[in-house]
Formats: sequence, C-alpha cells, structure tokens
Amino acid sequence: MARQKLTVFITRPIPKNGIDLIKQYAKVVLRDKDSIITRAELLAGIKNADIIVPILTDKIDAKVLDAAPKLKLIANYGAGYNNIDIPAATERGIMVTNTPGVLTDTTGELAVGLMLAIARRIPETEHIMRAGKYPGWGPLMYLGHEVSGKTLGIIGLGRIGNRVAEIANHGFGMNILYHTQKKERDVERSLGAKKVTLATLLKQSDFVTMHVPLTEETHHMIGKKELKMMKSDAFLINTSRGPVVNEKSLVEALKKNEIAGAALDVYENEPKMAPGLSKLKNALLVPHIGSATIEARSAMAKLAAKNVVAFINKKPLPTLVNREVLIK
Ligand code: DGY
Repeated sequence: MARQKLTVFITRPIPKNGIDLIKQYAKVVLRDKDSIITRAELLAGIKNADIIVPILTDKIDAKVLDAAPKLKLIANYGAGYNNIDIPAATERGIMVTNTPGVLTDTTGELAVGLMLAIARRIPETEHIMRAGKYPGWGPLMYLGHEVSGKTLGIIGLGRIGNRVAEIANHGFGMNILYHTQKKERDVERSLGAKKVTLATLLKQSDFVTMHVPLTEETHHMIGKKELKMMKSDAFLINTSRGPVVNEKSLVEALKKNEIAGAALDVYENEPKMAPGLSKLKNALLVPHIGSATIEARSAMAKLAAKNVVAFINKKPLPTLVNREVLIK
C-alpha cells in the first residue's frame, strides 16, 4: 500500500523550483498570497501540517507549535532563524533547518554596495539629479569619502562577514578589523585581518559593518555608548538583523552628526522605521533586500526543499539547526 504523503504548508509563495521539488514528494498547501501571513492564518495553516516552510516574518513561537500536533520539521526559508523559538521546537522533537551559504555572495555584495553608496552619496545625489536641482559641476560639490585603503570593522565573521572582508580587501585594499568570539586564523593569514575588541573596532574603523545573527547577546549591541565610540566621519552598515542596532539611538547619533552616516537594509520593527529615520540625509535605507537576487532566492528555495525531501526520505538533513533534537 502506498504511504500517505506528508503535508507541507508553505506560508507565502517562494520561487517555483522549490515548490515543484517538494510537490514530487509531498502534498503542498501553499498560501498563495504575496503578503505577510496573519497570526490567525498561521495558526490555521500549521494545524494539519507535518512540515512548514516559513519565512523570516513568520513568528513560530511555542503557542504556534502547540497548535501543530503533527509538525515534525520547520524548513525555514532564510539563513537567519530568529523568527523561530528553537528551544521550544527542540523540546517538542521538531527539527529546524535554514538556508545558509547560498546567499553569501548576494548579501555580501549588498553590504559592499551600501558602503560605496553611502560613502559616495549616490542615492542622495541621484535625488538631486531627478529633482532637476543639479546646477552644474563644482569643485566643492557633493564630496564623499574614498573607500580604498580605509579600515573596515566587521562585527561577526561568519560566511557573509568573510565574503565582505574578501571583497573589501581584494577590491579596495581595505584594512580589516573584526570582532568575533573566536580567532579566525584563515582570514588573518589571507587578508591580514586583525581580531580586536568591540571598542577598538568602533574607535578605529572608517566603516563598521554588522554580520551577527540576532540573539539575546547581540540585541542592541550597537547603542548610544557604542555609537559615541565611532569616529565622527565613520559609517555604519547593517545587513544582518535590525534589532542588533538600537535604532532610536542611531537616529539621535545621525541627527547630531556623531557619525557620518548609516546604510541600513534591516530595521528594528520591520516594516516600520524609527521616527525621524526616513528624514535623515545621512541615512541610506533599503527594504531588507540582502538576499534579493534571482540567484540567491531560487537557491534558497532549492535548499529549503532539499531539507524537506531529505526529511521525507529519512536522510540526514543538509542544514539542520538544532542538532540536539537528534538525541531526544
Ligand atoms: C536571511 O536569509 O536571513 C536573510 O535576511 C533574508 O534576506
């Protein structure tokens, strides 16, 4: 007798390659609306699911898990998994996977792009052009900062932090400082990068870029005190998670020109922004597009689907997050 197919609930359309792969092995229930799922929709959808494929805006907490008696796997569509209560999932014997590695280049490129764009005032001056306010070339107009040879401070040196270090050092001869728990000998050897304390990194860097996951320890790791440590002509770039920076303190620091500028892809309370942020000329703001390339998004779909398929076929999961669940 044929085994009954497992039910996979996908909370929002993801690239078709991932959905098609899952469909070969399971019954797919796709919430076919391209909008953020409501709590009620999530609770209703997860009720009969054996597997869920959520995205980073879907909060999978203990209450949601309690509404999912059949759930065995959460195959997150995203590298960051701070949207999921991992201990609560592990406690219930539910596996969690994510999609690391396949968005490294894409997100690294955005961080570097933001660094160049804010340093050279590209969005700000583009607005001037479009508004017809360019009066003609002048030697003292629209001066920005050069990136070449400057010091880049990288907070969190995982895959993306590493890629940014590589591009910045190979492409622009930037000196790399990094702040992580453990020493990264490879990067030290290949790029001459130096591990320093957070305070040293903030005091010495011309550009500071965030690449940490959001955890209790990293929440608000950049706040008023840390912003004051930065040089007044330094820039902050954040493509990781919004809450690692205290956005209200950042707005204050930018208003007082305590730092030269900030380029943000992520926000504390997405899709909202801290009051005043959108009015600041020294802020460059993009809507969480870190992984938004055709290449990365379809690779993420493929990897999420591979995790689902491996689970169905009782094979090791390619990117299991909560290994402890295996010994439960
Ligand atoms: C991720 O995968 O965590 C990214 O933030 C998505 O852009």
